[in-house]
Amino acid sequence: MPERSHPYEALPAAELLALDRQHVWHPYGPMPGRQEPLIVSSASGVRLRMAEPVEGHEELVDGMSSWWSAIHGYNHPALNEATTAQLGRMSHVMFGGLTHEPAVRLAAKLVEITPAGLEHVFLADSGSVAVEVAVKMCLQYWRSIGRPGKTRLLTWRGGYHGDTWQPMAVCDPEGGMHELWSGALPRQVFADAPPGGFDTPVDPAYADHLRSLIAAHADELAAVIVEPVVQGAGGMRFHNPGYLRVLRELCDEYGVLLVLDEIATGFGRTGALFAADHAGITPDVMCLGKALTGGYLTLSATLCTPRVADGISEGEVPVLAHGPTFMGNPLATAVASASIDLLLGQDWQREVKRIEAGLLEGLAPAADLPGVREVRVLGAIGVVQLDHAVDMAAATRAAVREGVWVRPFRDLIYTMPPFVTGDADVARICRAVCAAAKEG
Ligand SMILES: Cc1ncc(COP(=O)(O)O)c(C=O)c1O
Repeated sequence: MPERSHPYEALPAAELLALDRQHVWHPYGPMPGRQEPLIVSSASGVRLRMAEPVEGHEELVDGMSSWWSAIHGYNHPALNEATTAQLGRMSHVMFGGLTHEPAVRLAAKLVEITPAGLEHVFLADSGSVAVEVAVKMCLQYWRSIGRPGKTRLLTWRGGYHGDTWQPMAVCDPEGGMHELWSGALPRQVFADAPPGGFDTPVDPAYADHLRSLIAAHADELAAVIVEPVVQGAGGMRFHNPGYLRVLRELCDEYGVLLVLDEIATGFGRTGALFAADHAGITPDVMCLGKALTGGYLTLSATLCTPRVADGISEGEVPVLAHGPTFMGNPLATAVASASIDLLLGQDWQREVKRIEAGLLEGLAPAADLPGVREVRVLGAIGVVQLDHAVDMAAATRAAVREGVWVRPFRDLIYTMPPFVTGDADVARICRAVCAAAKEG
């Protein structure tokens, strides 16, 4: 074997794929893998550079923002600068008994930009852990104030909150990704999925359905937890923000905490900075992740109100017993602050609206394709729902042929491009999604 100056770069594609297949799990994959992944050698702006040409393309336009996270695209000078500057100071230091400027600055910034009333920030490693922390906060709050029987959660069907245990328990138990575990997970309370459509008026009958469930279970409910406005990996469905106001009122009336999981929706994706802003409400607890670092590093935040924090801190065990090794990681928190500054330092609403207009126009033809059930667009999110399970390999290949990367699942071909995606690239992504819908 020839000497390699850089072990990764020089690894021939065939060898890399063989090692990958032999040793590496991929998301929701079997072992060994059955589908050959594409090899990315670098990424810049909205383009992923392939280790070797695929369907004649050396680069693919990224239609996924690496699962909602890379809102500014890849290899952004400002984010590179923030990361390398912090790298020169320290990449990590423990957070127990120590603190540092990147984490403190980020926490203060998050308090400033999230709905009024959220004042305390718990930093963790991933979205799923943020949801674990949120659930722990809620259960501990009730235990601390003398209501230890309030341990269950209520959510609506069609949701997705992550892959660790508590989040899995509030994913849709039927047809959802974690159906397998239905007998083993804590049993939560499920409402019907919210009626679809951002602009579809609030259905009073559905509001009554929520009321009757919350009323019936109030004594055992610690919290209602939902994805606001957009249900992501559970089906890419949109609903009227009015349902969040309904939930806020019902939670107040029946003494239940409200958790909003904004891990996918946060940082502008739906056209508002946070989906809660569409409804003008403040949850008791809010989870953030994904785009928090502009897709640079894994980081999440769970914010709560003083009521929740005080309840915990004045209880029998007056601490929140959670402390990940990499809590508040300086590199991640530094780049998160830089990403937020970058977002807020531009007219991001205009960019999201521009992409929304491009998606509306470019995806419209998909509605006439055989096998397409619905086309829907909200903010910088475009969804084509089929009336059958997508042939993932065929759909992906069709999109790649157009020079675009998308990752369909279930009956969905969807895109949420980086906010820096130009009009021509948005149009190209749409052509690719239509091609994928035709062949998938
Ligand atoms: C709404 C929502 N919550 C939680 C998660 C889990 O986040 P992570 O994959 O970072 O654990 C996701 C991920 O897709 C999500 O979309």
